[in-house]
Amino acid sequence: MTSPTYAPSAELASKAHVDAAKYEEMYAASIKDPDGFWREQGARIDWIKPFTQVKNVSYDFGNVNINWYADGTLNVSANCIDRHLATRGDQTAIIWEPDSPDEAAQHITYQELHDNTCRMANVLKDMGVGKGDRVVLYIPMIPEAAYAMLACTRIGAIHSIVFAGFSPDALAARVNGSEAKVVITADEAPRGGRNTPLKTNADKALEACSDSVKSLVVRRTGSDVPWNDARDYDYNALAAQAATTCAPEEMGAEDPLFILYTSGSTGQPKGVVHTTGGYIVYASLTHQMTFDYHEGDIFWCTADVGWVTGHSYIVYGPLANGATTVMFEGTPTYPDASRFWQVCEKHKVNQFYTAPTAIRALMGQGDEFVKKADLSSLRILGTVGEPINPEAWNWYNDVVGGGNCPIVDTWWQTETGGHLMTPLPGAHATKPGSAMKPFFGIEPVVLEPASGEIIEGNGVEGVLCIRDSWPGQMRTVWGDHERFEKTYFSDYKGYYFTGDGCRRDEDGDYWITGRVDDVINVSGHRMGTAEVESALVAHEKVAEAAVVGYPHDIKGQGIYCYVTLMSGEEPTEELRKELRTWVRTEIGPIASPDLIQWAPGLPKTRSGKIMRRILRKIAENDYGSLGDTSTLAEPAVVDDLIENRMNR
Ligand code: WT7
Repeated sequence: MTSPTYAPSAELASKAHVDAAKYEEMYAASIKDPDGFWREQGARIDWIKPFTQVKNVSYDFGNVNINWYADGTLNVSANCIDRHLATRGDQTAIIWEPDSPDEAAQHITYQELHDNTCRMANVLKDMGVGKGDRVVLYIPMIPEAAYAMLACTRIGAIHSIVFAGFSPDALAARVNGSEAKVVITADEAPRGGRNTPLKTNADKALEACSDSVKSLVVRRTGSDVPWNDARDYDYNALAAQAATTCAPEEMGAEDPLFILYTSGSTGQPKGVVHTTGGYIVYASLTHQMTFDYHEGDIFWCTADVGWVTGHSYIVYGPLANGATTVMFEGTPTYPDASRFWQVCEKHKVNQFYTAPTAIRALMGQGDEFVKKADLSSLRILGTVGEPINPEAWNWYNDVVGGGNCPIVDTWWQTETGGHLMTPLPGAHATKPGSAMKPFFGIEPVVLEPASGEIIEGNGVEGVLCIRDSWPGQMRTVWGDHERFEKTYFSDYKGYYFTGDGCRRDEDGDYWITGRVDDVINVSGHRMGTAEVESALVAHEKVAEAAVVGYPHDIKGQGIYCYVTLMSGEEPTEELRKELRTWVRTEIGPIASPDLIQWAPGLPKTRSGKIMRRILRKIAENDYGSLGDTSTLAEPAVVDDLIENRMNR
C-alpha cells in the first residue's frame, strides 16, 4: 500500500530546528550513545545540583528500575517560571481564553505567573501540605489549574489531576488511592455554556474519604455553593493575603512530580507516576522539536489539564521553554463550530494541537466555519490521542492548514510522558495517518504477538514495544510496583510493552493500528472495558456484562455493552436509559454506553472465560468471520447475539 506524502516547504525546513539530515544525525547519535545524547539534553534544564549520572535503568522483570539524572537536584516550577523572569518577566506566559467569547481573555505574564504560583504555594503550605504530600486537583481549565500544578512542584508536593468530567465516585477513588491531603476544586466549571457543579461533586466524593482531607475552593463563577467551615478553604480570600514569594524546594531528579490515573486492560485505573528531572527534560525537548517551537511563538494545545497531554503540552513543556501557551476553557462547538478558529485568529496562534475526534466533529460542520477565520498565523498542526483517518487528516491539512502547515501526528501515552513517535515538521514528508518516525532516543521494535520474536524489515505488522528507556518514562504505578512490572514488562521480556499494535511500512515509517488489549479509545479518552463492566454489574438488575469497542464515525470507538439481566428483570427501553445514566454517575459522561444489547447469555469457554473476540466481531458487525467457536460452552448464544445485534 502506498500513501501520498507531504513534504514541508523548503522555507519551513530551512528555518526548522531539525531538517532531514539533522534528524538522521541526531537520531543515530541518540541510539548509539544514549548517555552522551541525554547528558547534553539535560543541560536545557537548570539544576540546583548538577547531575553526574545520566541513565541507570534495568528492564529485568522482577527488578524493573528506571532512573535518569538520579544524583541531580532541581525544582520544576523554578524551571518553568523563575529562570525566565530576568529576560521575559513581562512576556505573556499564559493566554487564558474563557468558555464564552463574551468574557475577556486574560494575559498572564511570567512575573504574574510567579506571584500567583507563590501565593498558591503559600496557601497550600499553610494548610499543612509539604514535600511528598499528595494534592488532588479537580478543577476547570482556568489559570488557577496551572498555578496549582506549579505551586505543588514548588513545595515538592505531588499533584494528581482528576479530569473535571469524572464523577464523585471516580474522584473519591483517586483521592483515597493517592491518600491526598487536599483537594483543589472550584465552585463551578463552565463548559460549552453550561456550568458543572464541581464543588458539589467534590463534596459528594469527600463523603467517601477521610475527614482529614481538606478542600481548597477557587471561585470561578462566584455562585453560592454549600460550605463546610471545618473542611473548606476559600482560595481567593487566602491568596489575597498570601505572600508573592516562596522559595522553591530542592527536589531529587527521581522524586515524584505527579501521579495521573489512567485506564488499563484490567481492574481499576492505575496511578501512573512521573518523576522530576527526566520528565521535564523530555517534555521540554519534545515540545521544542515536535512543534518546531521558536522564541515568540504562540502555542495552543486544546487538551484538558486532566489528561497527560495537558500536563506536558499546555503547562510543563511550553513553560519550561519560556513559551506563550494558550489555555482554553471551552469546547470546539460553543457558541458554534468556528470557536477554535476564532481563537486561533484572535491570539495569532502559530502551533495548534488537537485530537482527531475534534477534527472529525468540526469537519462534519462544513468548511465555512473555518474559512471565515483568518488562520494565516498557523505554521504547524498537531494531532494526538488516536489514529487519525486519512479523510480527517486531509481536511485538517487542506482546509485548516491551507496546505502550508506540516501535520505532526504524535503517538504517545500517559505512561511515556511525551511523544515517542511523530514526524518532525522540517524533517519528514508526512503521510496521512502515519506517526512516521521515532523521536530521539526511542527504538521501536515490532514483535510477533504470540512468540515475542522481533520482526525485522519493512512491510511488517505486530505489537509495538520499545527497546530501551527514555527520560520521560513512567517509573512505577503508585503504591503497586508489581502491577507496573506486570503490565509493561512481563509479556515481552526486556522491552517496554505499549499495548498498541503497529505496522512498519515499506519505507520504514510507523502506523499505529490501535490497542491490542482490552483498552478502548473513545474520543481520544482511554477507557478500560473492565471499568465499564464493573460499573454495570454494580447495578442491582444486572447479572453480567461484557463491554467492547466498535467503530464510531466521530468518537473513533464507541462503547458497546452486552448486558445479562438478573432473572425476572424486564429488558425495557427505560432500563437501557437507566443503565446509561448509572454508568455516567459511576464513572463520568465519557464512559456513557453508546449501545446496550440485552444478552440472554454471553459466549464463554468451558472454563467460563468470556470470549471477547467474538463479542468484538459482533459489535463491529463483522460476524461473518467469527473464527473458531468450537470451544464455546453453549454455541447457541452466539446466534442470539448476532440476531439481536445493535450495530447493523
Ligand atoms: C493511547 C494512549 C498521550 C496522548 C493522549 C492519549 C492512542 C495516542 C495516538 C496517535 C494513534 C494514538 C494509543 C495509545 N494514541 N496517540 N497519534 N495515533 N494512536 O494518552 O490516554 O494514555 O492513551 O492512545 O492507543 O496507546 P492515553
